[in-house]
Amino acid sequence: MKPIQFKYSNIEKFVNQQEIDNKISENLHILQAALAPVQNPSEDLGWIGLDEIANEDLLRQIEAKVKEIKEKADIFLLIGVGGSNQGARAVIKALGGNKPEVLYAGNNLSPQYLNRILSRLEGKSVYVNVIAKNFATLEPGITFRVIRNYMEKVYGEKGAAERIIATGSLNNSSLEVLGKQKGYKLFPFPLNVGGRFSVLTAVGLFPIAVAGVDIRQLIQGAKDMKSLIYDTPIAQNPAVLYGIIRNILLEKGYSIEILAFFEPLLEYFSKWWVQLFGESEGKKGKGIFPTACSLSEDLHSLGQYIQEGQRILFETFLNVEDPRASLKISVEQEDGDGFNYLNGKDFAFLNHVAYEATVKAHVEGGVPCIIVDIPELNSYYMGQLFYFFEYACYISGTVLGVDPFDQPGVEAYKTEMFKALREI
Ligand code: PA5
Repeated sequence: MKPIQFKYSNIEKFVNQQEIDNKISENLHILQAALAPVQNPSEDLGWIGLDEIANEDLLRQIEAKVKEIKEKADIFLLIGVGGSNQGARAVIKALGGNKPEVLYAGNNLSPQYLNRILSRLEGKSVYVNVIAKNFATLEPGITFRVIRNYMEKVYGEKGAAERIIATGSLNNSSLEVLGKQKGYKLFPFPLNVGGRFSVLTAVGLFPIAVAGVDIRQLIQGAKDMKSLIYDTPIAQNPAVLYGIIRNILLEKGYSIEILAFFEPLLEYFSKWWVQLFGESEGKKGKGIFPTACSLSEDLHSLGQYIQEGQRILFETFLNVEDPRASLKISVEQEDGDGFNYLNGKDFAFLNHVAYEATVKAHVEGGVPCIIVDIPELNSYYMGQLFYFFEYACYISGTVLGVDPFDQPGVEAYKTEMFKALREI
């Protein structure tokens, strides 16, 4: 299948080839090391080895459990936060089916939100997947306590255990211990994969499969992207170019990157992407601030700033080439609404014209625009996107001079919060 294409022609007036070549040669050793085959991935690089994190045995276990859930569940409740739910939610919101309905909890502390979730469970056949790497995070941990009590009240302890699936580190984490004690089905959260890099492990694959999305195609897309990254020379390598160009743009003062898309189905993918880059690069006083715009809607809000505000922004456009949908504008004789110049035209055409016009206007307005052409939005190409951005983030963060796999800053609010909660 045709791969995703990366186009950098719109940044030529902001970054020239010589600057790219220089940055590559300054970082040649780092880049070579990042692209060398990984044999026994240590702590943080487990996500690189797709044959291990998405092995056949795991896929069969997932498929067996999914069959049962699809037959019996009305609602599948996914409890997790950050890297433990964003990847699955990105795919399910873009491509998932309606049965079972997937609901999300454990990603906030709002009583209003959790009460609404509980009321939606009433009278429905519910299955739960609780996901946590070490189960110390407050939001999923405390939400799961409430949901576990609800499930045990409705289905009894044994019945609840049959309907709760836990995905956690299998190193005596408290989730594993609790799961074994209660008798839950356990899926592994690989020890050498961080949350925001975990979508292609059981963490993402299981809920994605429950939502009816083809996980084998997702993995195939990731594998094909991996081959492309490993087989392409450094100077043309898309993951290298993306990482290098971001770093050059940052040095030139472009400190905000907007992931822009004209397909609203990508909204939750953009949240995954924001987390990936924000948590991986924003440290030591460095990093690009990642954000996202759903277009054309946000052209009517942030569009003004992008066009004429401070020249500190660049954009990465996710362009879905074939929308696989058509909706023709009805033809009217009277031009009462003034839109007859669009008689018979397709919304797909309008959306495409709006995309091209936006890129042109933004580049002319001083915004560097990187283009990612995605042939169509399906699980295969989402697999390519996940793997590409994970690899590019690894390269970009390493060139920036930070550890893309830690998140020391997240601890600061937790320390204050736990101190306050224990003092009460
Ligand atoms: O990427 C990360 O490591 C984080 O975003 C975690 O996924 C997030 O904090 C949730 O952690 P846990 O799975 O331990 O609850």
